[in-house]
Formats: sequence, structure tokens, C-alpha cells
Amino acid sequence: MRGRIPAGAVTPRTACEGVRALQRPDWAPETIDVERPSVARMYDYYLGGSHNFAADRAAARAMVAAVPEAPLMAQANRAFLRRAVQFLTTAGVRQFLDIGSGIPTVGNVHEIAQRHAPDSRVVYVDVDPVAVAHSREILAGDERATIVQEDFRHPERILAHPDVRALLDFSQPVAVLVVAVLHFVADDDRPAEVLRTLRAALAPGSYLILSQASDDGRDETQRAEAEEVYRRTDNPLWVRSRAELTAFFDGFELVEPGVVWVPQWRPETPESAEDAERAVFLGGVGRLGG
Ligand SMILES: C[S@@+](CC[C@H](N)C(=O)[O-])C[C@H]1O[C@@H](n2cnc3c(N)ncnc32)[C@H](O)[C@@H]1O
Repeated sequence: MRGRIPAGAVTPRTACEGVRALQRPDWAPETIDVERPSVARMYDYYLGGSHNFAADRAAARAMVAAVPEAPLMAQANRAFLRRAVQFLTTAGVRQFLDIGSGIPTVGNVHEIAQRHAPDSRVVYVDVDPVAVAHSREILAGDERATIVQEDFRHPERILAHPDVRALLDFSQPVAVLVVAVLHFVADDDRPAEVLRTLRAALAPGSYLILSQASDDGRDETQRAEAEEVYRRTDNPLWVRSRAELTAFFDGFELVEPGVVWVPQWRPETPESAEDAERAVFLGGVGRLGG
């Protein structure tokens, strides 16, 4: 049957046993539980990164068994993020607040933005200790980019954080990115209210970039299996429809082509937008008028 984990595949239990024998690498803070899969490290694995442990890899492989497009999904989402940031730098935006920024990988927001406009300033925010530690390491010496350990669900703490205030001027446009994060935020955590709080702090001409996993047109079994995998982490999956993601742009004017499968958002070539729904992620960019 499609999507079942094959017999003999690495299970979290065997993976965890392997982890115990390993030395903790120096990029891994003492506080983290290497035996519990983390969504940040699973995503790092999908992207071919090396900041993950056996438990993360086992969970990611179980996800690939359920949804074979998972690595493609991560790559398509990163490509969307790159095109969206390029679009914004061309539009003149020089400040970025990237919430749920993840473990640094190829093409981080500050690299894309500063390549085009070296004066761009970027604040990354993530809850994951590995994402924070590794970001801190690669950003050392960059006075225009920093990382703050905070939770999307506490926007007032993010907005008031001294490092955020030191780098970003909220009287000028800021692009807020919440990319591939909302599917880890349940409706009970009031994501729409969080986005409204962020919007209220922004100047006209600011932007919101969102993407998230969607179950539109997808097989129910696959969704249930994916949810099962992510229940092993601290961030259960909360997939949403196109209408639900579109509603998160309340107060913003959607930039063309609106909320679409991420490969369809301003593709660089027509071929790169083919079979776009296989990317599983919907995304869009909104502009704050005024
Ligand atoms: C799938 S990764 C996305 C990384 C990056 N934004 C991208 O699109 O490539 C999701 C990230 O969101 C972070 N995350 C999940 N829930 C969060 C929350 N409530 N607040 C801040 N970060 C969160 C995870 O730690 C992880 O690094």
C-alpha cells in the first residue's frame, strides 16, 4: 500500500539507540533532546544539510515514505523564498523580519537581500536552539543581521526585543516572512491574531510573505500519515486550505499572482511551474497599503 513505512526501515527507536553512542557535535546546544525529532532539523535533512541527528533522519524518512514529495516540497519552498526576497529587494525593501527562519542553509535571506542591496538589514527569529546557535555562528561579524530566540506565538515579545529594535526601523517598510511555519501553528494558537499584531506594527509599504503546507486536492491517507510522523515532534502538523492561507493576508493587498502553489509564484521559467501542486506548499506575498 502507498505510503506505508517499509519493513526494516529505520524506526525512531533504533535511530535513538544509535544516537546514544554518538558524541554531541559542538553545534548542538546541551539543552536539546537529540532523541526527539525536531522539525527544524528534519527540514535541514530534506534540504541535504548536516545539522540533524539519527532521530531526525528517521522521522524525515518516515515522512518521505508517507509523502514522497517531502524533499521537493522543501526545495520548492526555499526557491519561493528566494524569488520573493529578490522581488522585495527590487521593490526597494531593505528590512526583513524572518520568523521561523530555520537552520541556515544555502540562500539565506540576508545573503539574497545583501547581494542585491548591501545595506539590507535582517533579523531572524526561531525557537529551535540548533537554528539559533548555527545562525549566531554564521552571522558573527555581520552588523546588519542577527538572530533572536523567540516564538511566533508571542509577537509582542518579538517586536519589543532590543535586538529587533536595534536593527529594524518600524517607521520604514519591513518585510515579515513567516515561511513554512504556519503549519506548525494550530488554530488554537490564534495565528490570525498574531499576524494582526505584527501588521499593526508595520509602516505602509511593508510586506508579508507566507507559505504553508496544504491538503488541497491531496489524498486523505497521506495527510493522516504525515500528521502521524509530525506528532513525534514538538510541532504537530496543521495543514490548511488555500482559502485559510489567503485569509491570513487580511489587511494586505495580495501581489500578483496571489496565493498559489509555490512553484507558480513568479517562476523564473515556465517549466519550473509545471506540476506545481506536487510542492504541497501554497505561498503568497501581500503589501500593506496606506
Ligand atoms: C520548515 S522550517 C522553515 C525554515 C524557513 N522559514 C524556510 O522556509 O526555509 C520551520 C521553522 O519554523 C520554526 N518554528 C516552528 N514553530 C515556531 C514558532 N512557534 N516560533 C518560531 N519558530 C518556529 C522551526 O523551529 C523551524 O526552524
